[in-house]
Amino acid sequence: MTKIAVLGYGTVGSGVVEVLETNRESIARKTGDVIDVKYVLDLRDFPGDPIQEKIVHDYDVILKDDEVRIVVEVMGGVEPANTYVRQALMAGKNVATSNKALVARHGAELIAIARENSVNFMFEASVGGGIPIIRPLLQSLTADEIVEITGILNGTTNYMLTKMSEDGLDYDAVLKTAQDKGYAERNPEADVEGYDACRKIAILASLAYGHQVDFEDIYTEGITKITETDFEYARKLGTVIKLLATCRRQGEQVFAMVSPVMIGADHPLFNVKGVFNAIFVKGNMLGDAMFYGRGAGKLPTASAVVADVVEEVKHIHTNIRINWSAQKLCLADVKEASHRFFVRVSGSPEEMGARVRELFGEVTLLKVVDGEFGFVTEAMEESCFDAKIKQLDGVRTRIRGNF
Ligand code: HSE
Repeated sequence: MTKIAVLGYGTVGSGVVEVLETNRESIARKTGDVIDVKYVLDLRDFPGDPIQEKIVHDYDVILKDDEVRIVVEVMGGVEPANTYVRQALMAGKNVATSNKALVARHGAELIAIARENSVNFMFEASVGGGIPIIRPLLQSLTADEIVEITGILNGTTNYMLTKMSEDGLDYDAVLKTAQDKGYAERNPEADVEGYDACRKIAILASLAYGHQVDFEDIYTEGITKITETDFEYARKLGTVIKLLATCRRQGEQVFAMVSPVMIGADHPLFNVKGVFNAIFVKGNMLGDAMFYGRGAGKLPTASAVVADVVEEVKHIHTNIRINWSAQKLCLADVKEASHRFFVRVSGSPEEMGARVRELFGEVTLLKVVDGEFGFVTEAMEESCFDAKIKQLDGVRTRIRGNF
């Protein structure tokens, strides 16, 4: 029997206990061992709940108990999770976590500490919730060099954008619905400003390229400026607007970005709707692959955490190598990346059309509401687009396009 401790009895922590109880026998068959939760660390007590007999408030109890071989960290946030995880690894315990903030900030160091102590630090649930993406990158796609990873990595914003696209609702209305349904927090900043997706793509980029990609270096633009009128143009163009998190290798350079992007029906992420996440991966040998599923939620996330625990039980004395060095990867300037651009301009096509075509060539001018028009450029470097668009009066908005 392998004894584990769970740090945090919130949504994911209680999910981990539930998954281990519900699938106890099948997990034991696959693991070759029974997994038993010995302790649950939480500040709170849970009177009347059977979990209460496992609740401890002092982390030292877990740390000093040699019988505990695996620590599951599902508290969230960087501290005290970082301190607890370090202490566990240095005490020779394996760690599984769902904590993207911790992994994005300290992943490389924690992987190194795990290696020095012949244990494992695993974090499948930190990106894409229940969708397998970390282990495929680390184990199944090792024959490939990763050319591109582009994902819908945030379920809340994908739900909001889907509602705007399909129901014609405005941003404030869909945010309220997302909050009422419990998808968006009362303070929705981390989701709607793209910070959550940014940490997740930083983790994937670090794994894909083997070096630390600092999330602070990733250009990040959220969805707060996207309007219902933008979606009217998108519909006319046969496109949708998605919050995409991407990293892409081009020659010796790596670009990474989080931004709303207009995509067409032939894009693999076009049909990813609602709270679902999906991750598109392009390998130089494999070509295209897609990973799709529930990117959040109690049981999907707990399922990924427990899968890490099973993997750790199977490799209890062996560190599984993860190629993510602390040496920083310098990202290329996103202004050098090429996109098409959708632009909305105040005024009439009759008055402004000649100037638009002087700057951007033979573009089609679209009209969906009074007092303005839109157009889509050919693909060009963003710095080139910026230089041209500065010379045009009345620009209301611009959205990157990949269609
Ligand atoms: N807020 C996140 C989302 C939760 O909406 O996808 C999962 O990390």
